[in-house]
Amino acid sequence: MRLVPRTLFGRTLLILAIGLLLAQTATLALNLFDRGRAVYRLTATQIAARIAQNARILSRLTPAERPKVVASIDGRHLRVYLSARPVPVSHGLAEHDPYESTFLELLRAQLGAPWLVTAEITPRPQYNAQAGPVEAWLARHFYYLSPGAYSIVCQVQLEDGTVAVFTAIVPQEPLSRLESLVPQLLLLVVVCFALAGLLVYMTTRSLEQLARAADDVGSHPEGPPVDETGPSEIRRVIAAFNRMRERLRAHVAERTNLLGAISHDLRTPITRMRLRTEMLADRGVGMKMQRDLDEMEAMVASTLEFFRDQDAAAPRHPIDVDALVESAVDDRRVLDQVVEVRGAARAPYPGEPRALRRCLDNLIENAVRYGGAAEIEVADGADALRIAVRDHGPGVPEPELQRVFEPYYRLDASRNPASGGVGLGLSIARNIARSHGGDIALRNHPDGGLIAEIVLPRRASWAAPRSR
Ligand SMILES: Nc1ncnc2c1ncn2[C@@H]1O[C@H](COP(=O)(O)OP(=O)(O)OP(=O)(O)O)[C@@H](O)[C@H]1O
Ligand SMILES: [Mg+2]
Repeated sequence: MRLVPRTLFGRTLLILAIGLLLAQTATLALNLFDRGRAVYRLTATQIAARIAQNARILSRLTPAERPKVVASIDGRHLRVYLSARPVPVSHGLAEHDPYESTFLELLRAQLGAPWLVTAEITPRPQYNAQAGPVEAWLARHFYYLSPGAYSIVCQVQLEDGTVAVFTAIVPQEPLSRLESLVPQLLLLVVVCFALAGLLVYMTTRSLEQLARAADDVGSHPEGPPVDETGPSEIRRVIAAFNRMRERLRAHVAERTNLLGAISHDLRTPITRMRLRTEMLADRGVGMKMQRDLDEMEAMVASTLEFFRDQDAAAPRHPIDVDALVESAVDDRRVLDQVVEVRGAARAPYPGEPRALRRCLDNLIENAVRYGGAAEIEVADGADALRIAVRDHGPGVPEPELQRVFEPYYRLDASRNPASGGVGLGLSIARNIARSHGGDIALRNHPDGGLIAEIVLPRRASWAAPRSR
């Protein structure tokens, strides 16, 4: 299972969510600790003051008067009794020592008399029994958050030697307040999350639009420019992208026109040379030159054809693929070239019929020329329409599988002019497939022979596997 989302949208949201939760939890904890400490300090000071005041009063009274006062002091948070000598108190936690000494200092300051004073923070058994493990841990290590779990036992030796034993309980700022903070935290996270989600969505949507446009440049170079929408940074990228596309198009058009013009203009000097060779005295040389001129003419013709196919802004129609394959095959059968067909298309394919026919013809031509015969297999899926042309010839060496697509590139074995061809067939076929948003895939069959497959997308969003 993937834990990290794949999309920019998912990742940004995930990071934002983690960040928000961490920040909120930290703030919550800081608030809680801060408030707990302040409340504890205030109450501890008040209790120390009360104990000091009562000790001073008791000290001044005669032993007979004391019980009445003791009875009136006794309350929920402060109890007191008198003892002839100090009473033993069970030790609390070592973690609480600093609190004990702070409390003692407070008390001594409030008393203003050099009386013998002790203070001990001891656990209240009945309280600890109910506390959950988290609360118990907090009470142990952060006493001020949960002082109600302990009582502070202060013993003050009055002037006549009697010991007044005060047991104070610091009222607790309940930890349950935490629960009331949780909905607040959740609300904040949800609101921030929704806003962040919207922002990220807006940004990634523009990026997605750009990605689609970049993909489109290959298949519809003449398409409209991408809409410049979204935040200004994205708009700048889109604008730069549109400019780049425009320059690229102008550049390609210029080169195409130039090459087209050269090829076109070469025809006249070739014709002139052909006439001149006929007048040559040496017939042997004349024949050789004629063959060279034939080859040059074939190259010029194919080049012109290549450029004619390049401006493939021709309208697209739903094509009956099976009929197209059948007619291509029939033409071969007339020439006694063996061609077999398997499979069928499930639905018409929207494309440029003449171009697709040429694309298929070029692959069949290669199979027949280099492999002796062609087997065609049509496979139609939800994603793509595939037309594979297979032969049983020598195939193409693996390292050359890409290079054979280059214009005028021919393998050594086929450089023999007798086998015809100038090396443009696969370039043309690939241009046509790509202008339909697809591609041509070349691979050798394990049992020998080459498979050249036309892959045409059935779905707009589907990207054909680029063989480059
Ligand atoms: N089915 C095949 N089996 C073996 N080699 C092939 C096959 N198809 C193409 N090739 C090799 O790839 C080279 C380029 O093919 P491409 O179709 O582009 O040009 P061509 O067939 O030589 O000329 P043309 O422009 O007439 O098609 C060929 O010269 C050949 O060496
Ligand atoms: Mg060819």
